[in-house]
Amino acid sequence: MQALKLKGMLAHYREVTEKASQNNLSYTEYLSLLFEEELKRKNEGTVKTKINKARFPFIKTLEEFDFSFQPSIREKEIIALGSLDFVEKKENVIFLRPPGVGKTHLSVALGIKACMAKYRVAFITAQKLLEELLLSAKDGSLLDKLLGYSRLNLLIIDELGYMPVSKEQANLLFRLVSMRYEKGSIILTSNYNFNEWGEIFSDQVVAAAIIDRLVHHARIFYINGTSYRLKGKLKAANDR
Ligand SMILES: Nc1ncnc2c1ncn2[C@@H]1O[C@H](COP(=O)(O)OP(=O)(O)OP(=O)(O)O)[C@@H](O)[C@H]1O
Ligand SMILES: [Mg+2]
Repeated sequence: MQALKLKGMLAHYREVTEKASQNNLSYTEYLSLLFEEELKRKNEGTVKTKINKARFPFIKTLEEFDFSFQPSIREKEIIALGSLDFVEKKENVIFLRPPGVGKTHLSVALGIKACMAKYRVAFITAQKLLEELLLSAKDGSLLDKLLGYSRLNLLIIDELGYMPVSKEQANLLFRLVSMRYEKGSIILTSNYNFNEWGEIFSDQVVAAAIIDRLVHHARIFYINGTSYRLKGKLKAANDR
């Protein structure tokens, strides 16, 4: 086991052997249990690698989300998203509106679920994505970059709208969204409603074309509520 680096077996063979002898397991059953341990370990390793590669800003799960704090979020629909059929169907998910309501939390939680299901996932802020695309357009590596993004099953683009998007960046984002259209899912978060995207993008026509492709097969969540970051703080300040 050591020589073959079967670490799952190595860690558990003692207890499995004990269990096998106590329960009079056949050799085949015994072997099967041992290999299950190895497989479990390998799967855990794969998921860990996928989560690392996805570059989440933090690790948060759906179970950690307090739906009672944010009643405008349709809990059942979010839990249903956890089954990842949207990734299977190559549909998008869009979380819109104010700061602190859990847009990034929910995106990360769904991304982690997708990693656990062995999908290829990446998380990036819109600002970093646009900077990267612009850089690669300049150094001639744009196509490689776009191909890299198009290979993902799920691309999470966080915080579109905090920074203005130049005409050139809008064109690059359009290329990315077009490449992924009906081929792979995007989760996108923004503080702006679609009718306000004109303020983010300097090019209204490209903005409309991006929205068109994003929302064609998308589940859109408009979240209205107070910031979780301010939870308890406003009341404490008012009580003072
Ligand atoms: N309903 C909730 N239950 C538990 N934790 C929450 C909830 N909403 C937000 N949080 C937590 O509050 C913090 C802020 O949430 P998050 O980063 O998801 O907000 P956001 O909507 O992305 O805000 P912004 O637009 O400023 O990026 C995170 O630590 C998140 O885990
Ligand atoms: Mg956020």
